[in-house]
Amino acid sequence: MTEKWNLSAAPESTSHVELQDTYHLFINGEFRKPKSGKYFDTINPATNTVIATVSEAGKQDVDDAMKAAEKAFPAWSKLDGKERGKYIFRIARMIQERSREFAVIESLDGGKPIRESRDVDIPLAAAHFFYCAGWADKLEYAFPNRSPKPLGVAAQIIPWNFPLLMAAWKIAPALACGNTVVLKPAETTPLTALKLAEIIQEAGLPPGVVNIVTGAGETGAAMTAHPIPKKLAFTGSTEVGKFIYKAALDGNKKVTLELGGKAANIIFDDAPIEAAVEGIINGIYFNQGHVCCAGSRLFVQETVYEEVLSKLKRRMDTFIVGDPMDKNTDIGAINSKAQLKTIEEYLKIGREEGAEIYQPKCNLPKTGNWCAPTLFTNVAQSNRIVQEEIFGPVLAIQTFRTIDEVIDKANNTPYGLSAGVWTDKGSKIFQLTQALKAGVIWANTYNKFDATSPFGGYKESGFGREGGIHGMEAYLKFD
Ligand code: NAI
Ligand code: MG
Repeated sequence: MTEKWNLSAAPESTSHVELQDTYHLFINGEFRKPKSGKYFDTINPATNTVIATVSEAGKQDVDDAMKAAEKAFPAWSKLDGKERGKYIFRIARMIQERSREFAVIESLDGGKPIRESRDVDIPLAAAHFFYCAGWADKLEYAFPNRSPKPLGVAAQIIPWNFPLLMAAWKIAPALACGNTVVLKPAETTPLTALKLAEIIQEAGLPPGVVNIVTGAGETGAAMTAHPIPKKLAFTGSTEVGKFIYKAALDGNKKVTLELGGKAANIIFDDAPIEAAVEGIINGIYFNQGHVCCAGSRLFVQETVYEEVLSKLKRRMDTFIVGDPMDKNTDIGAINSKAQLKTIEEYLKIGREEGAEIYQPKCNLPKTGNWCAPTLFTNVAQSNRIVQEEIFGPVLAIQTFRTIDEVIDKANNTPYGLSAGVWTDKGSKIFQLTQALKAGVIWANTYNKFDATSPFGGYKESGFGREGGIHGMEAYLKFD
């Protein structure tokens, strides 16, 4: 076993963070008590203690939010694109100015390592607002001769794995295109969206242009069933995505769905192995594996299998798992007790299916939700741990001999969100990017995101694209 570096604790300070004990709904530019009279707690998954109490929006509250968005739409959509852009630029700058506060809240509420929220989530969220702001007065150039027009009110429902970033992916393009929105963050991670609401209020955005309601599935269902929104945008499980698709059909609404995944990460024997090992690690253990595009199925060419496996294990042995607020932490807390239970169930299923399990020794904290990084070898294509999305730090490894074989194996999944290819040969990369049924394919890298680049899936991973001008198109109609 490799020696771990014996690093002293380096916890990020939380003293600069302003949190309230109780959060209300952000409707029509103000924070309002829920008419439902109901509240729920949001928990810190690293300690299982309550951080704050949050409003649960009922049908009446959702109705109020939709009406506020509808009322705000005519003026917002007619506002000169340059003026709309100024508001969005202002939001982007304010996220940057308060990025440390956002990062700390994201890690407290969701359990992800502070290094990731600080270096990935928050800067990318700001980047999406900057990017879309720049297009607000140039839609005619982005979509020449097509007379782009906004849709109206968008109802947007987001998950708990990248809370602020998903809010940015949804809100920024909608606003830039002249729509108004009602957004619901996930029930385990509402705090950064509520912080964003404070910023939006401070930025002086006209009341009702952005409304943020909190709650769980019932609140989400009230949003998608509501007659006002012209567009539903959802990121989350394929199961809930199917309900949302049905609601969109019933209500004759436009819809984009960004659902689950079970991505193939493919290592050829001519790949730079050290870099590939880092790519495998980043692909599956980033954000505790709570990533829709996680490289959860690893395919290694047989000739380099032993080398890759031993290097991978050696690298896993160095992982620091624990306090998300510590700047040295590689793997933080599992987002919720429910998600931990799901992951543990899959670990059991994997063993029962006859797979061999490897977990490095790590000192998991006594309280909170934790799962050691895991890999399974000796798995078959038909195994549930190979077919189903686990959404945790769990990798299933298979081998292959030829390109055709790995293409068949990689495409043997109901999903099609992303894939990774590691090889020295450009020709192989091009062959695979043609043959793999996945919306995003990374070559000699993994989990790279950029506001200018579209992201989205095939098959049960959903449809529609977010990011780039493709992402804006989903919030427009054309003559
Ligand atoms: P989920 O799909 O239930 O939650 C996502 C969002 O949908 C949350 O805001 C939730 O409140 C809302 N929601 C739930 N039921 C709804 C309904 N009937 N109508 C409208 N909105 C509704 O995801 P969950 O249960 O937290 O996670 C279960 C599994 O889903 C995970 O294990 C993972 O496999 C997958 N997942 C995938 C994500 C992705 O980014 N593709 C994100 C989150 C979960
Ligand atoms: Mg929480």
